Amino acid sequence: DRLAPCVFVVFGASGDLATRKLFPALYHLFSADHLPDHFGIIGCSRTTFDDSAFQDRIRRILPTPTDELPDRRDDFVRKIRYQTLVYDNLQDYDSLSHRLESINASFGTQGNRLFYLAVPPQLYPVISTMLGRSGLAREKDRHHEWSRIVLEKPFGHDLPSALELSDVLHEHFSEHQIFRIDHYLAKETVQNLLMFRFANTIFEPLWNRNYIEYVSISAAETLGVEKRAGYYEQAGVIRDMFQNHMMQLLSLVAMEAPSRFQDESVRDDKTKVFNSLRPFELQGRFRDLVLGQYGPGNIDHHAVPGYRQEEGVAPDSLTPTFAFLRSYIDNWRWQGVPFYICSGKRLSRKLTRIVIQFKDVPHSMFRHILGEKISSNRLILGIQPDEVINLTLQTKSPGMSSFLRTVTMRFDYNHEAEKSRLKDAYEKVLMDCLLGDQMLFWRQDAVKRCWAYLTPILEMCESCGDRAQHLHLYPAGTWGPKEVEATYENYLQDHI
Ligand code: BG6
Repeated sequence: DRLAPCVFVVFGASGDLATRKLFPALYHLFSADHLPDHFGIIGCSRTTFDDSAFQDRIRRILPTPTDELPDRRDDFVRKIRYQTLVYDNLQDYDSLSHRLESINASFGTQGNRLFYLAVPPQLYPVISTMLGRSGLAREKDRHHEWSRIVLEKPFGHDLPSALELSDVLHEHFSEHQIFRIDHYLAKETVQNLLMFRFANTIFEPLWNRNYIEYVSISAAETLGVEKRAGYYEQAGVIRDMFQNHMMQLLSLVAMEAPSRFQDESVRDDKTKVFNSLRPFELQGRFRDLVLGQYGPGNIDHHAVPGYRQEEGVAPDSLTPTFAFLRSYIDNWRWQGVPFYICSGKRLSRKLTRIVIQFKDVPHSMFRHILGEKISSNRLILGIQPDEVINLTLQTKSPGMSSFLRTVTMRFDYNHEAEKSRLKDAYEKVLMDCLLGDQMLFWRQDAVKRCWAYLTPILEMCESCGDRAQHLHLYPAGTWGPKEVEATYENYLQDHI
């Protein structure tokens, strides 16, 4: 039994996240015998159910059996209990505490508890405070009778609210008990970045300002705001994608080699990247930042409305759905190398990738015959939809003439990983929470640094007087505002 016994407490158990993601992920882990033998689940929310009604509800949403997934639904739901709980009522937490004792006795979970907050972020402070007051946050030590709390972004709305949330959490939980999820870090190819960089000798000597012209990190989506206007109007692309996924990708590309593949060591080196980000200067600010919002257009040959026409969005909304940012990292390795970070909704296609553009050869001895610039090497780390590593090289065209042509060495991760792949990033995240491995989770100092870095940018999106003039509309189904190309001339080439 590699994993410690434990009881998994799901707050928001009748909600969307729990139903769509958590219970199916737990079931997959259970079916694959990845969960500990001594394991129990208790769902908590305001809705009233008894145990068997809740078990029936969960049974209905579990995936139907296939050849690869044998039917273990009955065994799984037998592990589930339910407790009605009003989130701000201390007495309910006392009842939960008694219930946990009885589950502990019947399932042999040895006093270990994992609290998963699948609830709106406004409830994080009250739940963590109540857990603290009722003694449920206390643990004997990190390995015995432990207590962990798991939450998903957003971690605050801006720097002050992020610090406030952190204070509330730290009142009752230590940092080693807090698991802040970023689902991008659970993607196979994102994790592979560390292996690729630090388990090979050939790239690391080139991975710096001497050989790299620029780095581009993009996450393009075809989806629009969907049914989340209430949230998105307040968040916008910077909070939704930059203050989490994009910053994590940046740190993985730019970090120094950690001394050990161990959570604190890796997180220390990531935080150093955030500490080295050049503060976003207010002078010339719209030179390094392009903001956009999608207008009506076509996605996959279907007409789609513009952002301002979406349900729940203000008709004069100035919320950006696209941002392009040029960042610099002020350290020896990266001095002067631009990092182009870009994400947007309703773009031409779903594409998440990192491009490492190497510099031109210092002197082209072919110039007099070819009369053209030689394309420089480029490494593409594809994350979605294709999980690939592509390296472009120049070779001779076959035949008599001395022409060069670009060829690509391609490694296809999809192909390799199919059999051992976890069904969903949540499975990886849940396993790590159970193992107590925090490598893939945000640490508070990094959250704080990123908010601090992005604060002036948020101010430009939200409170600067000329922001309407700097919000560029782009038709849905295109690659965003054309203004980006003024700063980053390879933008289209890097995306198409
Ligand atoms: C989420 C954002 O964190 O990430 C969404 O809130 C976005 O707006 C999503 O669509 C993108 O994730 P993925 O895994 O589809 O790239």
